[in-house]
Amino acid sequence: MISIAVVDDERTARRMTARILRQAGYLVETFASGNSFLEKMSVDPFDIVFLDLRLPDKNGFDILTHIKATHRDTEVIIVTANCSIDNAVEATKEGAFHYLAKPCRSHDLRLMADRASEKIRLHRENVHLKSQIGESAIIPGFIGNSRAMKAIFETIAKVAQVNCNVLLEAETGTGKQLTARAIHELGGNSKAPFVYFNCGGFAEDLICSELFGHEKGAFTGAVSRKIGLLESAAGGTVLLDEIGEMPLSMQVKLLHVLQERRILRVGGTRPVDLNIRIIAATNKDLKELVRQGKFREDLYYRLNVVTIRLPRLKERKEDIPLLIYHFIAKANKAFSKQVRGVTSQTLHLLLNYSFPGNVRELENIIQHAVALTEAGKLTPEDLPPRLRELHTPAEWTDKELLSLAEVEKRYITRVLVKTGYNIKAAGHILKMPRTTLWRKMKKYGLKKGATISR
Ligand SMILES: Nc1ncnc2c1ncn2[C@@H]1O[C@H](COP(=O)(O)OP(=O)(O)OP(=O)(O)O)[C@@H](O)[C@H]1O
Ligand SMILES: [Mg+2]
Repeated sequence: MISIAVVDDERTARRMTARILRQAGYLVETFASGNSFLEKMSVDPFDIVFLDLRLPDKNGFDILTHIKATHRDTEVIIVTANCSIDNAVEATKEGAFHYLAKPCRSHDLRLMADRASEKIRLHRENVHLKSQIGESAIIPGFIGNSRAMKAIFETIAKVAQVNCNVLLEAETGTGKQLTARAIHELGGNSKAPFVYFNCGGFAEDLICSELFGHEKGAFTGAVSRKIGLLESAAGGTVLLDEIGEMPLSMQVKLLHVLQERRILRVGGTRPVDLNIRIIAATNKDLKELVRQGKFREDLYYRLNVVTIRLPRLKERKEDIPLLIYHFIAKANKAFSKQVRGVTSQTLHLLLNYSFPGNVRELENIIQHAVALTEAGKLTPEDLPPRLRELHTPAEWTDKELLSLAEVEKRYITRVLVKTGYNIKAAGHILKMPRTTLWRKMKKYGLKKGATISR
């Protein structure tokens, strides 16, 4: 819960401010003097301070400087009489969050507290995510903190130590290429080459000459000897992407290479020994292709000494906040922006989206949003319409008829998201006592913790 200090020597103003903020769901303490406030602040710091610039015992500016020096993350809102607004503006340059002119309207007080607490929430979340990213990445930029990804990382670390072939079977955008990279990098020979080859869309002849190379004069146009990709990866790793697309005739040759661990350049007579690790990747179900006669069974078993199946993003939503943070940082760097995070509504939309394009789609969405946003935090308006439309009322009026319970659940969710899970505010809008709201939230599993863990 966010704690607020109200520091003002005017009794009525102090009491009124405290009452309004308490009603908005904050934990509020009041102080009539600068010294009494500073004393408490030093033992039990507040998250937000509403500070009157003119106090009898201390200059408000000194208090502000002191707070910013000792508790950088505490947000200070200057409250002052109209005649000294210039001072208040000056104070924002010294690090105050904002200012309000007296007498303050309750709406403005609430708004200011909500904005400051959203900033604090984001900051805490970012600090938390940053430390998690540091802990979770198996190689720089390959992130995951979910159970599923931790298990994958363990497998990667184990496989890396053994020079065996690996098959990566997963949907598009789930991180197959990153996985191959991680296996290579952690394999102890990361200085050796990592070679990528996409088997899709090439005729057999071309694949042959690309993978195996050719001798001078092997065919018309072979004016000099060419070293193939497999040979050029000596000591390292070859990633054969879209292995399911490899023509059957080519599959026989690859099988041969895997068995013999040597290749013959096209037109060559002397075999060349190979010391490489082959990682094959596919977004198809290879076993099914085997059943259909489109993929050789013997090659399938050669390749899948170890199979790693990466989970879809929607099956590991816990990773979404971490990935969002990572991609924002990446995009900030690329576009020289300073986006600090996402609002609660934006996070909610992202957590409830199905991501058919998996992590790559999330990365694109964030990149696009960071490039174009003018806000400090990404708002739902920065997201593509397909995400925003998920939560418009049309979803449950036009397409299908729902049960009353389902409508209630969805509507309560919308109000909670809109109010940033402020129970008091949500209860007010819904005209529902807090205890009833709690009960319904429990019934429908609408805890805020379900959207972000901290
Ligand atoms: N766990 C992750 N952490 C950080 N970035 C990720 C993660 N997974 C995927 N990405 C990013 O998403 C994008 C897609 O990842 P990658 O190319 O590895 O997927 P893929 O499974 O090979 O997809 P495809 O089948 O479409 O080729 C890349 O930009 C990658 O950096
Ligand atoms: Mg790929």
